[in-house]
Amino acid sequence: MSERIFRIAIDGPSGAGKSTIAKAVAKRLGIDYIDTGAMYRAIGLKMLAKGLPMEESPALAEMLARTEIDFDRGNVFLDGEIVNDRIRTQEVSKAASDCSALGMVRTKLVELQRKMGQAKSVIMDGRDIGTNVLTDAEYKYFLTATAEERARRRHRELLDKGHESSFKEVLEQIVQRDYNDSNRALNPLRRADDAEEIDSTDMTVDQVVDYICGKVELK
Ligand code: DC
Repeated sequence: MSERIFRIAIDGPSGAGKSTIAKAVAKRLGIDYIDTGAMYRAIGLKMLAKGLPMEESPALAEMLARTEIDFDRGNVFLDGEIVNDRIRTQEVSKAASDCSALGMVRTKLVELQRKMGQAKSVIMDGRDIGTNVLTDAEYKYFLTATAEERARRRHRELLDKGHESSFKEVLEQIVQRDYNDSNRALNPLRRADDAEEIDSTDMTVDQVVDYICGKVELK
């Protein structure tokens, strides 16, 4: 690749495959991957650990001012500690969705994300990357799949990890999270006007990765 700096923004609903695809694209193009959902999860985890209610408060402002989140070689660091697994529980998924509706939390994380997207090529995934965080990203995609297909993928993932769950429950959670993420007041999930939509319902991961890398390598 040449030395030119470019940013790729990938938004879309839960379970559309954003992080799997972003990770693979980052590897193939030799650029950094920034998982912004992991950052909301880290804040959700810390709020739960500290027993902070899911609302704005002076205590939350103080906590945010003393919080450091970083990524290094595939690890997520919260205040210097690796939290890769602890941020993936159902409880933290809910806390992440709840705290992502708070202005204080978004202001802090968006500022951090913009800094991370400066000075080097990155692929960043989330809900508001194309519409808010990196509005001038060179490449923008909105990755979707039907709710049923996303629930099937998530259900399979849970079973593979040995977590028993019913398909119906997983589907209900996906639909609920879609609703929360799309209907909150602050930077809701939405396709940026200049983002290209990719429906991955009938596509393999490799097909989507090839498609995105092809666009970047063409330039
Ligand atoms: O992508 P994920 O499921 O790990 O994200 C966790 C939560 O964080 C999700 O419910 C929505 C929120 N989120 C957000 O509001 N904005 C982002 N850029 C990324 C995630």
